[in-house]
Amino acid sequence: MNASDWDQRYAGQDFVWSVEPNRLLADEVGRLRPGRALDLGAGEGRNAVWMATRGWQVTAVDFSPVGIEKGRRLAQENAATVEWIVADVSGYRPAGSFDLVVVAYLQLPFSVLSPVLTRAAAALAPGGTLLLVGHDRANLRDGVGGPQDPAVLHTVDEVSGPLAGLDVQRAEQYRRPVEVDGVERLAVDTVVRAVRPVG
Ligand SMILES: C[S@@+](CC[C@H](N)C(=O)[O-])C[C@H]1O[C@@H](n2cnc3c(N)ncnc32)[C@H](O)[C@@H]1O
Repeated sequence: MNASDWDQRYAGQDFVWSVEPNRLLADEVGRLRPGRALDLGAGEGRNAVWMATRGWQVTAVDFSPVGIEKGRRLAQENAATVEWIVADVSGYRPAGSFDLVVVAYLQLPFSVLSPVLTRAAAALAPGGTLLLVGHDRANLRDGVGGPQDPAVLHTVDEVSGPLAGLDVQRAEQYRRPVEVDGVERLAVDTVVRAVRPVG
């Protein structure tokens, strides 16, 4: 999907995704000391705004101006300050270094995602964390929802590959509960947490 496809998807008044942060992300980030965070493919800002309300200084990047505008609205409603940037992550060069880089459900073919992850890793300060959460390829067979194009789905091995130099501390498939027609089902996500070693 290109930026205007996402703009159309975000065109309504309502939020397409929840206004609550991804639960796993909240769990992971909740254990870290707040600092500078970069959210790549921030969408309507649910994670960026939540992090900002928890004391993080957040830069949120997405190529959908409509998504970013909704993020601004959500930030205002939550009295949160976020730096919003409309940009394509495949050409975006992060300025400065970050204590946390978040990549959540960024659905890109691996050939495009790989250099984005390499740059994200390079943007980490010593001790900084890269957290990737996204739809796993196994979701097609074993899970529910999510994109059905295998090219934009992750595997743990693939997304860990471009993170050379980082200490990969968590790399697994994670079963995320989702409600479908009032019944709880499970979606299969990829989760990777990697930390830039200090020194
Ligand atoms: C499934 S949404 C996830 C949004 C957000 N991370 C979340 O978890 O709520 C994927 C987002 O990635 C953005 N995106 C996809 N490709 C992108 C690219 N090349 N550059 C910037 N943003 C991109 C889309 O505009 C969309 O907002």
